[in-house]
Amino acid sequence: KQVALGVDIGGTNSKFGLVNHRGEILDKGSIKTDEYEKVEDFIDALYEKVSPLIKKHFNEKQFDGIGVGAPNANYFRGTIEQAPNLRWKGVIPFAEMMTKKFGVPCKMTNDANAAALGEMMFGAARGMKDFIMITLGTGVGSGIVSGGKIIYGHDGFAGELGHTIVKPGGRKHWSTGSEGSLEAYASATGISITAKKMRAEFPDSMLNDFPEEEIDSKVVFECAKKGDPTAIEVFRYTGQKLGEALANFVMFSSPEAILLFGGVINAGDFILKPTKLHMERNLLPIFRNKVKLVFSELDEADAAILGASALVWEK
Ligand code: BGC
Ligand code: NA
Repeated sequence: KQVALGVDIGGTNSKFGLVNHRGEILDKGSIKTDEYEKVEDFIDALYEKVSPLIKKHFNEKQFDGIGVGAPNANYFRGTIEQAPNLRWKGVIPFAEMMTKKFGVPCKMTNDANAAALGEMMFGAARGMKDFIMITLGTGVGSGIVSGGKIIYGHDGFAGELGHTIVKPGGRKHWSTGSEGSLEAYASATGISITAKKMRAEFPDSMLNDFPEEEIDSKVVFECAKKGDPTAIEVFRYTGQKLGEALANFVMFSSPEAILLFGGVINAGDFILKPTKLHMERNLLPIFRNKVKLVFSELDEADAAILGASALVWEK
């Protein structure tokens, strides 16, 4: 057991780190994902960035392999398949391509599964056997851990909770076409859609001081902190949708905790309070006031890098 490369592929940015078996990140970096129209070019650019680091720290014999977390990744096949928030369409044999380029084995899992593994080994979920990780970023991802193991299901895609329907017939997803998914409401993308709708209804809202393209969850947070009722309502509504979804998830797998993770949680109580309220309100009484709702303990990038790298040493 020596060193692994962990890679976390995101819709906008990807992060990577060299990790030893104690979970120490020896070196890390990032690369823009959406700059590369072709996956081959992305892998070449990643190689250019990573190989000097590998040479700096180790000789090649110490480099055990690569673990990758990515949206719509398939654990069984090592593929990325039709990811809604990536430019690379179709079914991509990503692990195989990485092995060709780097000359070491590569394993893959869903990005949120990787984050769940990282939290389980080194973060807020240490010692837990049953929990659900929810990642709130460009998309909404999840990793479901049951009996100490990530649930993969029959075809390897289990845990796509971001695409479960929280409002039947609701908001159309920009990529999948589904109507009323959690991702359409609770992702950073969803929050900006909600904010744009609400500011049009309330001309007095501070949100109207910003140009259309700047309306994102960060701006909504800034306005909420200044007391703008519309901005606060954006998070309340988002939290309601998220809380209702979490109630369903709790009744499905009876977790000890739900971990929230990703850029959106910077909004703190503006999102956490309504989420908790609507989760509890919709739970069957036997589940009430039992499930911890907590924020991730690890740095966002680190959790996924650590979890992905752990795939390398998995039996
Ligand atoms: C993808 C998931 C991913 C999530 C977060 C979703 O759109 O379908 O696989 O985990 O985004 O990146
Ligand atoms: Na997942």
